[in-house]
Amino acid sequence: MLELARLYRDRGITIIKGEAQYVWDSEGRRYLDAHTGHGVAFLGHRHPRVVEALRRQLDEIMAVSGSFGNPARDEMLRELSAITPGHWKVFMQSSGAEAVELALKLALKATGRRRIVAFTRGFHGRTLGALSVTWNPRYRSLVAGYGYDAVFAPYNKAEEVEKHVDENTAAVIVELVQGEGGVVPADPEFAKSLEEAVERSGALLIVDDVQAGFGRTGTVWSWQRYGLEPHIFTAGKSVGGGFPVSLVFARPDVVALKPGEHGTTFGGNPMAAAAVAAAARVLREEGVPERAGLLGSSILSKLSSALEGLRLVREARGVGLMVGVELRVRPSGVIRCMQCSGVLALSAGSTVVRLLPPYLISNEDVERLVGVVERCVSEEHRFRGPGEAA
Ligand SMILES: Cc1ncc(COP(=O)(O)O)c(C=O)c1O
Repeated sequence: MLELARLYRDRGITIIKGEAQYVWDSEGRRYLDAHTGHGVAFLGHRHPRVVEALRRQLDEIMAVSGSFGNPARDEMLRELSAITPGHWKVFMQSSGAEAVELALKLALKATGRRRIVAFTRGFHGRTLGALSVTWNPRYRSLVAGYGYDAVFAPYNKAEEVEKHVDENTAAVIVELVQGEGGVVPADPEFAKSLEEAVERSGALLIVDDVQAGFGRTGTVWSWQRYGLEPHIFTAGKSVGGGFPVSLVFARPDVVALKPGEHGTTFGGNPMAAAAVAAAARVLREEGVPERAGLLGSSILSKLSSALEGLRLVREARGVGLMVGVELRVRPSGVIRCMQCSGVLALSAGSTVVRLLPPYLISNEDVERLVGVVERCVSEEHRFRGPGEAA
């Protein structure tokens, strides 16, 4: 007998269908989805234009090695060029962690240096290389010895950056809005200090845009908001409109890997390429980043006033449709209550309720989302009693 190895805690429901901003469980209950499969379904579930592109590709071919050309990849590059300023070499991978691994490998190879600077509370994935730059010791301490050093500098402390980045540093890797670490946007001065540090030391700047990229934070790529120019950036999660695919964008002058020095069987898969092309077209033609920015501001201001005065809440914060409510307690009770009220959310760090809704939620959904968060936080407060909430 076989059973699936569980990687995540069981949330007690079975999801069988998704459509736009909603999912349904096996009992027929409908949920407003602010979880979106860890941020994947940002364009909504089964966006009709992504589904149509995949259907068309399915009728052509599902597997083409990177050794051969394929028009789906050409189309993907055309669509990505229309939303991405600058000249980049694009690598197709399958998961966020794999994209991070390649970004690190590119930097080590291009600079010949052996040190990577990462940040406290940063999260970059669960494979060995990605774990080496993921801060939480609970994840990272399982493995040791990577053939290079990873050091952690404090996030959002501009004055500390230059102490950590020197001529031995191959790369600085950063999330400009930390997701898993607690939904923490980078301060503009901190972001600027990263650029100064890499310019001074000759290190490369890697922006991990697996979660914050592809429109979620109000610009297509998170670094555009800060006016930064990374040498390398990653994309994943929503970049395939729900299809599993990740990308690495690298400036041509930092790509020193020769053919044969990297490879991945599924990289360049035509289904993935068709999905990215369709998703990028949707992003551009439906004004996704602008809408995410506006909706995010509306959610944040409504949440902030609804939660004002609730002692269980430390802060509501976020950028675009990456929103976090930091509590004074663990968030699991509130997330459970939200699920029972028909809204799916997830946690971030040890005290944050994270909301990653799709860009097409309506104003009515926003009211509902805010109302459910408020009620569930209040219920949690009543349940715990005033002593514990302080
Ligand atoms: C910023 C960031 N990088 C990398 C990853 C890893 O992506 P994946 O789970 O697809 O490997 C994640 C996943 O949450 C992430 O948020």
